[in-house]
Amino acid sequence: MKFILLLLKKKIFSFNKQEMQITYSHPTTSDAEVLDKINRSCMPENYDVSDWRLILSLNGNISFVAKINNEIVGYCLCLSDNFLYEKCTIVSLAVLKDHRKLSIGTKLLLKCIVAVKNKNKSAIFTLQCRESNENALKLYKHLGFQVTGREVSYYNNPIEDGLILKRTI
Ligand SMILES: CC(C)(COP(=O)(O)OP(=O)(O)OC[C@H]1O[C@@H](n2cnc3c(N)ncnc32)[C@H](O)[C@@H]1OP(=O)(O)O)[C@@H](O)C(=O)NCCC(=O)NCCS
Repeated sequence: MKFILLLLKKKIFSFNKQEMQITYSHPTTSDAEVLDKINRSCMPENYDVSDWRLILSLNGNISFVAKINNEIVGYCLCLSDNFLYEKCTIVSLAVLKDHRKLSIGTKLLLKCIVAVKNKNKSAIFTLQCRESNENALKLYKHLGFQVTGREVSYYNNPIEDGLILKRTI
C-alpha cells in the first residue's frame, strides 16, 4: 500500500512539473489585449490597448512573455531607443500573482538583456520603479541595476517618487 501511494505521489508530482512548464517567447501585436489585462491586474499605471499594439509593432521592441500551458502569465516590455540597441528601456514588467516567486520575473528581464547583448555587445538599460516596490527593486538590484536618480512625484494613484535604475552590459 505504502509503495502504491509513493508511486502515485511520484506520478502526480511529475504531472505537476509537466503542467508547470514555462516557456519564453517574443509577444506579437495579437497579444496586446492579454498584456493589457495582466498589466491592469498587477499595476496601478496602465496604458491604452492601442499603445500596447503600437509598442509591440515597433522595430526596437525586444520584449518577452512567459507562458504556462500556452497562456501568458507575465511579460517584460523592453524597447530600444534606436536601431543600434545602445539604449534600452524596460517599460514594464509584470507576472500574474498566482505565478510569482518562480523566477519568472527574473528570467523575463534576463531574456531581454541577453537578446540585446546578442544584437549589440554594450548597452545601457534604464527603468523606473516606485520607491515602495520592494519586490521589484530587489529583483532589479539582483540583476545588477543601480539606483541613479529620482523623479519626484513621478507616479500617480498614489502619488510617489520614481527611482531611476540603470544597468550597463
Ligand atoms: C516584480 C515582479 C515582476 C516579480 O516577479 P516574480 O516572477 O515573482 O519574480 P522572481 O520570482 O524572479 O523573483 C522574486 C522573488 O522571488 C524569489 N524566488 C524566485 N524563485 C523562487 C522560488 N522557487 N521559491 C521561492 N522564492 C523564489 C526571488 O529570489 C525573489 O526574491 P528576493 O527578491 O527575495 O530575492 C512581480 O512581483 C510583479 O508582477 N509585481 C507587480 C508588478 C510590478 O511591481 N512590476 C514592476 C514595476 S517597476
